[in-house]
Amino acid sequence: MHAIEVKGLTKIYGKGHTEVVALADASLTVSPGELVAVIGPSGSGKTTMLTTIGLINEPTRGLVILDGITVVDGSWVPGLDLKRIRRERLGFIFQSYNLIPFLTAVENVIVALNLNGVRGKEARMRAVELLDKLFLGSRLKNYPTELSGGEAQRVAIARALANRPKVILADEPTAALDTDNGKNVMELLKKLAVEHNSAIMVVTHDSRMVEGFDRIFEVHDGRITHEPVRT
Ligand SMILES: Nc1ncnc2c1ncn2[C@@H]1O[C@H](COP(=O)(O)OP(=O)(O)O)[C@@H](O)[C@H]1O
Ligand SMILES: [Mg+2]
Repeated sequence: MHAIEVKGLTKIYGKGHTEVVALADASLTVSPGELVAVIGPSGSGKTTMLTTIGLINEPTRGLVILDGITVVDGSWVPGLDLKRIRRERLGFIFQSYNLIPFLTAVENVIVALNLNGVRGKEARMRAVELLDKLFLGSRLKNYPTELSGGEAQRVAIARALANRPKVILADEPTAALDTDNGKNVMELLKKLAVEHNSAIMVVTHDSRMVEGFDRIFEVHDGRITHEPVRT
């Protein structure tokens, strides 16, 4: 079974004169444990691709199957608990970290576990273990404003992966970091995704960041222009 299966995914913003075809007829599959990068210039539809796959943005048409569940069939499948699917099966990482400012690093991760029913000591243990793997063992009690960009993004990775989602979607996760920090964060993200056997799709406009990915999709004007090539 694929972790992500997408067929004919299309997103049109606006109507008539203001219509923008942001994503046109995208089709792809990603297997569990596979690392896929999406590259393309600004405005090419990368974020739209990620948010329509990730149940944040309703597509105009197409099919999306996540971890065996048909979530989009023309539009969002009626009757599905989208929030729950997002919470349990998807991990999102954004450029801007999106940490909760009044919670410490470890609390930011614990919250994600709590939302999925993991509580108390067990939640704390899992959060600490994960943060340790991301070399944040000495930053557990720091608040987001006390962390460097690289550290904050590693906390965001811990939070996104805490519930071991089958699908991890990352939108320009290294864009706010310098090259060395960016590469470091990307390496850790890839390593953990493989360890968890999660499929990961990373959007970037920086082709230096796609080293070591299994496949690379190139997007232009809402279309996948390059078939994936094994690297
Ligand atoms: N909410 C929106 N409403 C109207 N147009 C949008 C919206 N979001 C994105 N677009 C347009 O869709 C196209 C693709 O945008 P986006 O997916 O953000 O590209 P990228 O992430 O590659 O920069 C762009 O032309 C953008 O202006
Ligand atoms: Mg974008």
